[in-house]
Amino acid sequence: MPLKTQHTGRLISFEGSEGSGKSTQISLLAAHLKKLGKDVITTREPGGTEIGEQIRNIIVHNSKGDEMCPETELLLFTAARAQVVREVIAPALLAGKFVLSDRFLDSSTVYQGIARNLAAGPVAEINRFAIGNVMPDITVIIDVPTDVSIARLKQRVTDLPDRMERENIDFYTKVRDGYLLLARTMTDRIILVDGTRPIAQVSQAIWEHVRVRLGL
Ligand code: TMP
Repeated sequence: MPLKTQHTGRLISFEGSEGSGKSTQISLLAAHLKKLGKDVITTREPGGTEIGEQIRNIIVHNSKGDEMCPETELLLFTAARAQVVREVIAPALLAGKFVLSDRFLDSSTVYQGIARNLAAGPVAEINRFAIGNVMPDITVIIDVPTDVSIARLKQRVTDLPDRMERENIDFYTKVRDGYLLLARTMTDRIILVDGTRPIAQVSQAIWEHVRVRLGL
């Protein structure tokens, strides 16, 4: 489906390891924007559409998930992305809304590309195919050290940890380093925030960046 290029909305994606506090910060930023009278929607990946949620189920809750190869994983994540872009994000941007997305293309670059060692070229190409011309205006990476991320995860997970959350410490270290690398190389789009600080301080730092970058 061709995507229209002209829109007045804004797409802000949130990235980071599990337990970095993305969903809390998305709610707080949404509240800030709504106070200014902005029309805001939030979405998440994988998911955000009925088809995407079904794909999420296959990837995340697959009890035999360890057998899934990284190539399949990449294609499933990007399939869910293609759907949410066309069904939810692009229409909202065309309608002038602010879209806050819990994860977007950088998750595939980092998790499948860097942490699972898939070649960067094909990952970027497949990502581009999935998103068309819908790039985030701003990407917020919330950084927390791997041990903090894992400790927070253990508190959150009450039943059988899902497939991604059973990964080992090396994997999460690669994920964290991958995000730090992206933050260093794409400074025009990405802002890096220290997620170990208290929630209100993290939220304030994000708000300042967003306000200044978007001239709000
Ligand atoms: P979350 O809902 O807690 O963020 O979990 C989603 C999981 O899926 C998380 O482990 C990151 C992973 N993921 C990828 O590996 N690649 C992707 O492209 C996306 C969107 C998520």
